[in-house]
Amino acid sequence: MSNALIDVRNVSRVYTMGARTLYALRDVTVQVKQGEFVSVIGPSGSGKSTLLNLVGGIDQPTKGEVWVDGTRIDAMGENALAIFRRSHIGIVFQFFQLLPTLTALENVTLPMELRGDGSKNRRERAEEMLARVGLAARMTQLPGELSGGEQQRVAIARALVNDPPILLADEPTGNLDTANAEGIVALLRELADAGKTILLITHEANLARAAHRSILMRDGQIVEQPLAAPAPAI
Ligand SMILES: Nc1ncnc2c1ncn2[C@@H]1O[C@H](COP(=O)(O)OP(=O)(O)OP(=O)(O)O)[C@@H](O)[C@H]1O
Ligand SMILES: [Mg+2]
Repeated sequence: MSNALIDVRNVSRVYTMGARTLYALRDVTVQVKQGEFVSVIGPSGSGKSTLLNLVGGIDQPTKGEVWVDGTRIDAMGENALAIFRRSHIGIVFQFFQLLPTLTALENVTLPMELRGDGSKNRRERAEEMLARVGLAARMTQLPGELSGGEQQRVAIARALVNDPPILLADEPTGNLDTANAEGIVALLRELADAGKTILLITHEANLARAAHRSILMRDGQIVEQPLAAPAPAI
């Protein structure tokens, strides 16, 4: 076993469609240490989301092993995986997927309720997370009353409210203007510097550079894992 928090070992994900075989991922190995912020870039169809979904336990590999925090998750049963995921992994997507009839605060409280967290300080914890992402003054608003960047901040607060060590983000800035996108990436960087382990998929090279390190994918393979350049202040 390695000391990596995320440890993807020789993973392939193959789709068979009739006589055709498509390698969404082909023998991919990648490790991410605790507190690392890694961006994943590459053209459309190169396997970025597939990789993220395997790490998040949303999808399973055809071959290889996926280890998260010392636990092998690729062969786990559905129930065990759901419980594991709840405590280890937060995920945010391009379209924030907030519940439109719930306030920001209620959206962020929801994962704690789903976990059966009966503690009285649920509300306090949700408020704390929203303040952490810069939304102290927006807590009682509905998603429709928030900007795209603010909605994504709510989604990030929701993903982190159960305090998972890992945050996975699949194009979280894909639906945002430049200023909001930079704000979200700066927030991710802050969270990583405070100890979260973050995997960020992005199409934009300038956003990818805010990470500690960048992985370049092509045709289901990692073609480049350069060492991190010092991150620019954005
Ligand atoms: N359910 C599926 N059935 C068949 N092929 C699939 C399926 N899901 C993904 N693929 C294929 O796997 C490959 C990798 O897809 P993936 O979604 O990981 O790409 P991506 O890098 O995230 O692309 P994008 O930047 O467009 O989001 C693509 O060729 C895609 O068509
Ligand atoms: Mg994708």
